[in-house]
Amino acid sequence: MNTSELSLDLIVQSKQQIANGIFEFDLRHPDGHPLPAFSAGAHLSVKTPIGLVNKYSLSNNPLQHDRYVIAVKREERGRGGSLSMADELMQGSILPVSLPNNVFELVPDRPEYIFIAGGIGITPIYSMIQSLYHQNIERFKLYYLTRDAPSTAYMEALAQSPFRDQVIIHHDEGDPERSFDLWPVLEKPAHRQIYCCGPRHLMEAVKDMTGHWSRDAVTFESFGTDAALSRTNVPFEVRLQRSDKIIQVSEQSTLLEALRESGVQVSSSCESGTCGSCRTGLISGDVEHRDMVLEDHELQDNIMVCVSRARGGTLVLDL
Ligand code: FES
Repeated sequence: MNTSELSLDLIVQSKQQIANGIFEFDLRHPDGHPLPAFSAGAHLSVKTPIGLVNKYSLSNNPLQHDRYVIAVKREERGRGGSLSMADELMQGSILPVSLPNNVFELVPDRPEYIFIAGGIGITPIYSMIQSLYHQNIERFKLYYLTRDAPSTAYMEALAQSPFRDQVIIHHDEGDPERSFDLWPVLEKPAHRQIYCCGPRHLMEAVKDMTGHWSRDAVTFESFGTDAALSRTNVPFEVRLQRSDKIIQVSEQSTLLEALRESGVQVSSSCESGTCGSCRTGLISGDVEHRDMVLEDHELQDNIMVCVSRARGGTLVLDL
């Protein structure tokens, strides 16, 4: 995301803590004008108070044209962007944001929708189920998996919603033995559409359990989750075979950012390893694949440069 694409300066109308370490921001146009429309599942790129650009899913109903609502988890171990949002952004602050963009769109007219949210991954899904409900589409079920009640955003709102009977909230209390068993839910595809947003271990489990589903029936998203934080980055070198360039990638930057800083243009959209736009040819190197896109047989010759990186040494790319 180029900072020139942050074309809206919005005001924080309100800020409230909605769960342990999770803050909700209600963003409005400073003059009260309507905001550009968005669809359920969309996100904003946001310039955080420390200058880093983070992406946050919109959690409100797209029928609300006067506000964008985002929820931010205060990540102590992150790069500092979410920490600055949680600690420094206050009611009345001005926040530069992009226009809404959607890489996690609801496919219309499916016979049934299954939503699986882990932790803060509830945000786009909360928008989706509000949107479906207000279109009188009630063929959905939400499985919302969190550690415990105090860390569960929107728990009260879901419990009091008109679709509460379609919501299953499960807490594992941090004990893997108490994880929710998704297999009975995912065993039979039966023309259903799955949307999953949450930490990487949850998305990987769902990916493993849906190998027999059609690929188009399962969609992943990871904005606002701790997917990128659960692994350690090491610096590495990249050699671009066709342009004969050498680029260094530090532990703080992604491979995509390093390519851009060197003037190499690669398409991207989600920048979270879920949409498939940044697929790049891989010639050699010890890659840690962190995306949710590539199939096993594609891993040797491809890399999603927005999230994947080397375990060290040199990567050679077909660029
Ligand atoms: S930009 Fe979407 S997978 Fe890389």
